[in-house]
Amino acid sequence: MGRSLTSPPFTAALIPAAGSGTRLGHGPKAYVEVGGQSLLARSVAALAPQVDEVVVALPQDAGLPAVGFGGKVRAVTGGPTRQASVLALLRACHADVVLIHDAARPFLPQQVLRAVRHAAAEQGAATAALPVADTLVRENAERHWGQLTAREGLWAVQTPQGFRRGVLLEAHLQAERSGVQATDDAGLVARLGLPVALVPGDARLFKITTPGDLELARALATVWDAEDA
Ligand code: C5P
Repeated sequence: MGRSLTSPPFTAALIPAAGSGTRLGHGPKAYVEVGGQSLLARSVAALAPQVDEVVVALPQDAGLPAVGFGGKVRAVTGGPTRQASVLALLRACHADVVLIHDAARPFLPQQVLRAVRHAAAEQGAATAALPVADTLVRENAERHWGQLTAREGLWAVQTPQGFRRGVLLEAHLQAERSGVQATDDAGLVARLGLPVALVPGDARLFKITTPGDLELARALATVWDAEDA
C-alpha cells in the first residue's frame, strides 16, 4: 500500500448486503428504507468516515444504490450465503485491516466502530457483542420450557467485527475446505484457535430480520437522526 511502518493500517469496511430479505418480505433487505434512507446507505454513512475504502456485496445484477461518499465506495457481487458474500469481499480488497458489518444493522454508533477497529488492529480479531440480559432456556421435545441455561458469561454477538485481513482470509479458506458454514466471521477465526476480543456493543445495533424489527427501526430512526443532526 506504499505506507511507512508507522502509518496507520489501510482499513476497509466490507458490507455483506446480498441477502434476499425473505423473512422481512420487502425485497432485498439492504434496499429497504427506514426514515427515508436505505439500510445500506445508513451503514455506509456510519463506516465511511472511519475507513480508507468501503466494499459492498450486492445481490447478482443489482446496482449500487445511492449511498454517497463518491469514489470511496465500490460494489462486488455476493454469493449464495453470507459466508460466500464475505469471502467475495475479502478477495476483492487488499486492506491490512477489514471491518465486516451487516447492512441489516443500520444503527452503528461511532464509538463502537472505533473500539472494534482499534482492538482488531492491535489483537488481530475483535467483535462487538452484548452481555445477555434475558433468562435463557432450552426448549424440550414439546417446545415447552426444558432446561435453564446460566446466562453468566454469555454474550450475544453483533457486528461490526474487525480482523487483520490475512487472519480472516485464512479462516474462510479453512472453513471452505472443511465445509463449515457459520453465521458470522469471528466464529470462523475462533475455530482456528485464535483469540477474538469481545468489545461492548450497543442495543441499537440489533439486526433487522422480521417485520417487527423493521417497525422498531422506523421508530428508532427518528430519534437517531435527530441526535445525529
Ligand atoms: O440473513 P441475515 O440477516 O443473517 O444476513 C446478514 C447480512 O448478510 C445481511 O446484511 C445480508 O444482506 C447479508 N447476506 C449476504 N449474502 C447472502 C446472505 C446474507 O451478503 N447470501
